[in-house]
Amino acid sequence: MVNTPPSSSSRAAKSARPIAVTGIKPTGKPHLGNYFASIQPAIALSAQHESYFFIADYHALNSIKDPSVLQAETLDVVATWLACGLDPQKVAFYLQSDIPELFEITIILLAYTSKGLMNRAHAYKAFIQNNRTLTRDADEGVNMGLYNYPVMMAADILAFKCNIVPIGKDQVQHLEMTQDIAEAFNRNVNKSCLVYPHPFINENVKTIIGTDGRKMSKSYHNTIPIFADADTIYKTVMKIITTSQSIEAVKDPGTCNVFALYKLFASPEDSKALANKYRQGGLSWGAAKKQLAELIITSLEKERDQYNHLIKAKDHLKKVLTTGQLQARRKAQQTLREMKSLIGIFHAQ
Ligand code: TRP
Repeated sequence: MVNTPPSSSSRAAKSARPIAVTGIKPTGKPHLGNYFASIQPAIALSAQHESYFFIADYHALNSIKDPSVLQAETLDVVATWLACGLDPQKVAFYLQSDIPELFEITIILLAYTSKGLMNRAHAYKAFIQNNRTLTRDADEGVNMGLYNYPVMMAADILAFKCNIVPIGKDQVQHLEMTQDIAEAFNRNVNKSCLVYPHPFINENVKTIIGTDGRKMSKSYHNTIPIFADADTIYKTVMKIITTSQSIEAVKDPGTCNVFALYKLFASPEDSKALANKYRQGGLSWGAAKKQLAELIITSLEKERDQYNHLIKAKDHLKKVLTTGQLQARRKAQQTLREMKSLIGIFHAQ
């Protein structure tokens, strides 16, 4: 697929930096899997990219219907990303719901999206398949927000004429759909208006495993929260599944869930030292887990203090989001204006 350069009329062209966009769904307490696979790499990427990072609160509405939960989880994610080092001076950080242009762009894109494309979306297909397995009506619990999710995601991305989208592997199909939708629009208006975005999957980021040895994911209930208090972190780490080897047994760090998590935080020397203890025998699982819990607690101490401070400073969080909103709206307005003029929608004077 050819990648069209960002429009030269764009004010962003002055920076000539590639543009990155990513959305964060505020569903569930941020955990170490999110930290290593998404938060850290996205923040690192923002050093070289004009970046637009947003909280996908309207996407979350498809599944969260309790207003106090939606609000609490939204603020939690905002505080988490800021505490982890997102610099709102360098990244436009905003709420999806604060950018009305995205919803106008969604409506436009719907007219260029075939229903068949949506029928093939993995998330939707998995949902109806699960209903079938449970011998329910296939469409039970499927709202139109879920069905149209890939179109709204395309609007989130295409509004910013971005080049890359940092995402996890599970989102690749959504990005392919975004490309298809952009292509359909450009073909119809006979102009390279929308930019085809590329997924950015950090191959160096290995799958972060959870307490049961599977990929850390809130749907498996095997997560270790980033900012829980020390006691919760201890208790969660103690639940990590290990072998039933005795204390004296020689153990293999290479296949151990505790060691896999330890390595993420430890210096190469400390990793080597713990690996040696595994190989010597005499290390209890309790001792290895205690060492891991302590490392998680101390490594993220600064961030945890910052998070505890930010989560209480609601007004400050809202102010940060306002700055990002202004920046993001400017860009989205420009794209929307261009799209409208190409399709023949005009404003009454
Ligand atoms: N669908 C993404 C997820 O579930 C979140 C998301 C929404 C997103 N809009 C986006 C990601 C735009 C990247 C770009 O994780």
